[in-house]
Order: sequence, then C-alpha cells, then structure tokens
Amino acid sequence: MSLDCVRLSGALGAEVRGVDLAAVDEPLFEEIHRAFLEHHVLVFRDQKLTPEQQIEFGERWGELHIHPIVPHLKGYPPILAIVNLGKQRAITEIWHSDVTFAETPPMASLLYAIDVPEAGGDTLFANQHAAYERLSPGMKALLDGLRAVHSGRGLGAATGKAEEWQLQGQLHPVVRTHPETGRKALFVNLAFTVGFEDMTAEESHPLLHYLCRQAVTPDVTMRHAWRKGDLVMWDNRSVQHYAVHDYGDAARTLHRVTVIGDAPR
Ligand code: SIN
Repeated sequence: MSLDCVRLSGALGAEVRGVDLAAVDEPLFEEIHRAFLEHHVLVFRDQKLTPEQQIEFGERWGELHIHPIVPHLKGYPPILAIVNLGKQRAITEIWHSDVTFAETPPMASLLYAIDVPEAGGDTLFANQHAAYERLSPGMKALLDGLRAVHSGRGLGAATGKAEEWQLQGQLHPVVRTHPETGRKALFVNLAFTVGFEDMTAEESHPLLHYLCRQAVTPDVTMRHAWRKGDLVMWDNRSVQHYAVHDYGDAARTLHRVTVIGDAPR
C-alpha cells in the first residue's frame, strides 16, 4: 500500500490523507514512519482521538516523555496541555526544538488540536538538514566537532520552576547526525542554546546569532494553519518550530505527546 501524501512546502512537511490514527496496523505504521523520515513534519486532518488513543499512537514511536517543567493534563502524565495563557506567557513563541536541554531530547512530538482560534495561532516549522546543507565548506569545518551548551533555565524562570538541575548546561553537538537517515542537521536553537563549549559568552554570541538566523530563513520553513482535529507530528532531530501568538484571548488548546529520543551524536 502506498500512503496518500501531499507536500506542504518546498522545504518540508506533508499532509497524509485517508488515515485514522486510532486504527493503524503495522504495515500502515511502517508507511507513516517512512513518510515521517522523508518529510519531517506530517499533518493528519480530521482525527477523533481520545487522550488514551493519542498516547497509544505516540507509544508506537517509543517511550513517552514526561515534561520536567511544564505541567501535564490531569490524569494523563504523558500529555502536555498547551493552552492560551496570554502572549506574555507564550513560552513556545520562539524558535526551538523540544527539550534540547535534556541529555536525550525528544525524537518526535505529536500535537493534537482540541480547540483552535478562528484565525491565527499557526505553527511554523524549519528544516534543519536544509539549514545545515547550504552552509559553506568553511563554516561546516568550523562547526565540525563543536559542542553547544543547552539550558532550561529560561523556561524554568518563565514557568516559575527553576530547579537546580536546569542550571547545569547540557552539551550537544552543533551538527547532529540523524540516527535513522544518517543526514546531518544543525542543532542549535534560540530558546535553549546559550553558548559553545570552551568559548566565552562574547565569542559565542555572534556565531550563535548567525546560526539561529540561518536555521529559520523562510526558504527552509513551512507554516501550519490549525483546524480542530488536526494531529501534526514532527521530528525534533531535524526540525525546529515556532508557535505564533497572534490570537489575543481566543481559546487555543492542543495536546502534546512527546517521544523520548537518543543522545544527539
Ligand atoms: C510546542 O512548542 O510544542 C507547541 C507548538 C504550538 O503550540 O503550536
């Protein structure tokens, strides 16, 4: 069987048609897995999932992550309820890959739309393979072997939960190799990367600023306009995302399930 996929931009993303995520058998799962590795972001429209069914589909990809800082949906520890807390507290309105301050950051996130604004509240995605591949040979050589420091301190402060462990930085390679496809990807982000190993802040900041800008130029992005019942999943090993807060006080509720990944190499 071949999956009905419609590409969503030149850089990444595909809408998968005709699939009910509550009833995915093994051959279909393998097709979805292949499409996930090819397109990095998959959109499934018109889903009707209970929290149990979303968790069950998430568990097909691996062990689920319990977020160390952001509270979960009551009764469902693996589900983060993303709700409108106002623009000032919109912690996801910044380019990031999920939880990169962890030793083993998530490999995938699956976000399901419960309630969405009439207009706005889109999510942007950026392809980090494309961002890396177009760097010059000189810049690639400079980044080869370089490690960056990632910290959850900003998120901890924003959510009032700055535990001591979050203050220690986690080191990850600036360029990671995707464990399933072998492709290289840029792996720094504005939300959690704070500098480079063995460099001062003054030395780190211009390079970090340059890479974070390169990582999200419009030609490596796609934009998803949510409808109720959408489930969008993305590969945190090759994608960054950004939740646009342009919907004032309107309700926007999404449930996120996150799958644990391996240590970036
Ligand atoms: C997230 O960063 O996981 C949430 C994205 C969104 O709310 O669109």
